[in-house]
Amino acid sequence: MVDRRNHWETVYSNKAVDQVSWFQPHASSSLRLIEACADKDAHIIDVGGGASMLVDDLLDAGYRNLSVLDLAESALATSRARLGARAQSVRWIAADITRAELPAARYDVWHDRAVFHFLTDPADRARYVEQVLKSVKSGGHVIVAAFGPGGPLQCSGLDVVRYAPDALHAEFGESFQLLRHETETHHTPSGQDQEFVYCYCVRV
Ligand SMILES: C[S@@+](CC[C@H](N)C(=O)[O-])C[C@H]1O[C@@H](n2cnc3c(N)ncnc32)[C@H](O)[C@@H]1O
Repeated sequence: MVDRRNHWETVYSNKAVDQVSWFQPHASSSLRLIEACADKDAHIIDVGGGASMLVDDLLDAGYRNLSVLDLAESALATSRARLGARAQSVRWIAADITRAELPAARYDVWHDRAVFHFLTDPADRARYVEQVLKSVKSGGHVIVAAFGPGGPLQCSGLDVVRYAPDALHAEFGESFQLLRHETETHHTPSGQDQEFVYCYCVRV
């Protein structure tokens, strides 16, 4: 998956992290959904977290068992530099989520904003769901945000798959119970609106 990694490293080397289309100064919806299901000891992984501020928001909220995974080491390095000494308490994993070696039954919360929708190959989506099944505890929560039916067809020059809530949930199957879903309009730094669908499931 070197090409995929190169693509994202190039994206991060060409644009400031607060100018990429998915930038949020705070990941407010993600934080609210996580706080609704997780106590401060919860093991939480942000999959494809990039340079997102979610890890800052979670540390500020008192969470202490955090992992951030991304293909792009440079994006993780940006977050580490921003956090300074606080970065040492976070587990940083540079890997492709479809191939990463994740621990079994480790996570209470799996969070993904704008990563699953890049998996246009059904085999990659199946590998992703296997990772969730392996590494999220029974009773753990899975929060996945993807472009909705009215969202863009591409992001960062890559095709995406857009999902209505039921279709997004269906990708994960019966091992995941859909608790709720929300639709959000994300305002990009360049002034465009993007429809996001958040699905919030429990692993049964
Ligand atoms: C659109 S950005 C979203 C970043 C972050 N979740 C946020 O909301 O700010 C997509 C991120 O997913 C990462 N990514 C893309 N494909 C990936 C894969 N197969 N495995 C791990 N990370 C991936 C990219 O490097 C990038 O940081």
